[in-house]
Amino acid sequence: MLALGSDQGGYALKQEIIKYLEEREVPYKDFGSYNEESVDYPIYGKAVAKSVASGECEKGILICGTGIGISITANKVKGIRAALCTDCFMAEATRLHNDANILALGGRVVGPGLAVKIVDTFLNTPFSGEERHQRRISMIEEE
Ligand code: RB5
Repeated sequence: MLALGSDQGGYALKQEIIKYLEEREVPYKDFGSYNEESVDYPIYGKAVAKSVASGECEKGILICGTGIGISITANKVKGIRAALCTDCFMAEATRLHNDANILALGGRVVGPGLAVKIVDTFLNTPFSGEERHQRRISMIEEE
């Protein structure tokens, strides 16, 4: 199950991503927000991050205007590795190297065509499993 969340700055792009997911029958849970009214992005960033950290959802996609505020929020939750990506190279690299479990996007930064390609890359690239990357990921959680 894929967790989705956005604020008003990411709502329109989230709808495009939902269209893409539904066409491919990818199961998702939308944690809101559900329209373009002004809201506080940390509410949605935390909800999605907690659902991924708890195992309720396997991965997440978070979208605010820039992708910055919502990714900062998600990365405060233990076990979350949220990656703000603006192209497919970043999406591929963050799966291969960082085993990122949340993709963050900027609804005012990337257009829908590029965004769905980034999502596709993120969802379909496995973690490399290489020892050096696993070691570095473990170090992230160390005090
Ligand atoms: C909301 O206007 C905007 O600040 C938010 O979507 C996001 O870009 C924050 O980082």
